[in-house]
Amino acid sequence: MEYSREIVDPASVPQRTLSNGTQIPVIGLGTFGSDHVTGSQIAAAVLDAARIGYRHFDCAAVYGNESLIGEALQTVTRTIAPRKDLWITSKLWNDKHDRKDVIPAFKQSLHDLRLDYLDLYLVHWPFPNFHAPGCSIDSRSPDARPYIHASFMETWGEMEKLLEQGLVRNIGTSNMTIPKLNLLLQDAHVSPHCNEMELHPHFQQPEFLAYLQEKNIQPIGFCPLGSPGRPERDRTPEDTSPLHDPVICSIADAHRFHAATICLKWAVQRGEVVIPFSVNPRNYTQNLRAVTEDPLTAAEMDQIAAADQRCRLIKGQVFLWKENQSWEDLWDLHGDITPA
Ligand SMILES: NC(=O)c1ccc[n+]([C@@H]2O[C@H](COP(=O)([O-])OP(=O)(O)OC[C@H]3O[C@@H](n4cnc5c(N)ncnc54)[C@H](OP(=O)(O)O)[C@@H]3O)[C@@H](O)[C@H]2O)c1
Repeated sequence: MEYSREIVDPASVPQRTLSNGTQIPVIGLGTFGSDHVTGSQIAAAVLDAARIGYRHFDCAAVYGNESLIGEALQTVTRTIAPRKDLWITSKLWNDKHDRKDVIPAFKQSLHDLRLDYLDLYLVHWPFPNFHAPGCSIDSRSPDARPYIHASFMETWGEMEKLLEQGLVRNIGTSNMTIPKLNLLLQDAHVSPHCNEMELHPHFQQPEFLAYLQEKNIQPIGFCPLGSPGRPERDRTPEDTSPLHDPVICSIADAHRFHAATICLKWAVQRGEVVIPFSVNPRNYTQNLRAVTEDPLTAAEMDQIAAADQRCRLIKGQVFLWKENQSWEDLWDLHGDITPA
């Protein structure tokens, strides 16, 4: 596809309606620099992406760049689009799960982002296990714990308070599993509006997607391109790459699109919201255009469905809570929550 610096009309970007009626643009710009892209580069991309038509930005306290992004957002609301036209997500980090810490952590993100409300606040991981940014894959926090549902409900209760206080329009989860969500749905006053999770053609999670659709929880897919720039600690020799998949590449060649465009079209057409990261104007423009034009055919969607490799890339090893565990323990693969 030719690169043209044309502006994409934000009104042409489809929206999904959440369980409470709010509408979320189907594409947002990711803002995790994967330990090698600086906060300033990302803030510059946020401002420029808003100029070309992005209205949705996926942020998190742990990305360490919310104050720089906040400066960019202030310029956006002064010169490009009113606050009400933006969708800003942030996330509660794992060391702030204690009841007393949730609302202060939220307010810190709000302050850093220079906003007076958020559109979506997520519990970033269901484990309260801190690890230092950039640490190695073998690193374990000495006070790491398994998932403890009663503790998670205390955290969730504070998330519900943020909603009641009108400080956030939607709340949600991230890196959850079906067994953990079953418990949350049973005990929560307010069900999550969204669940952010790894989703790309090589990790399609069809059962989880169907579960969320049945429960009216919007899936937000992270690493929608297979995270080619992810940190070293998140790479293993078994990993595969959807951008190099022969099925994706042949559909891309037939349309004269980049493989990234095919991954994003596929994701949005199967019902996801996507949050690809990029600091390259050509790439983030191409990604925005991908979701506004030339949908894939049903046959192409079926071909990609058959290309699943069940390859989780963000395995989360640093959140394990005891020695000699394998990353699969975080993901409740046998249908029950992995015991302590
Ligand atoms: N909730 C969670 O736990 C969680 C976990 C991981 C990620 N996330 C969120 O999801 C976002 C996206 O995930 P990610 O950054 O890991 O992976 P990703 O979006 O799948 O991949 C981003 C990489 O793809 C490249 N890229 C982007 N558009 C491209 C295009 N059109 N053609 C070729 N290359 C392209 C980018 O490089 P250039 O900059 O050079 O374009 C960057 O290296 C994150 O930024 C973060 O906001 C959330």
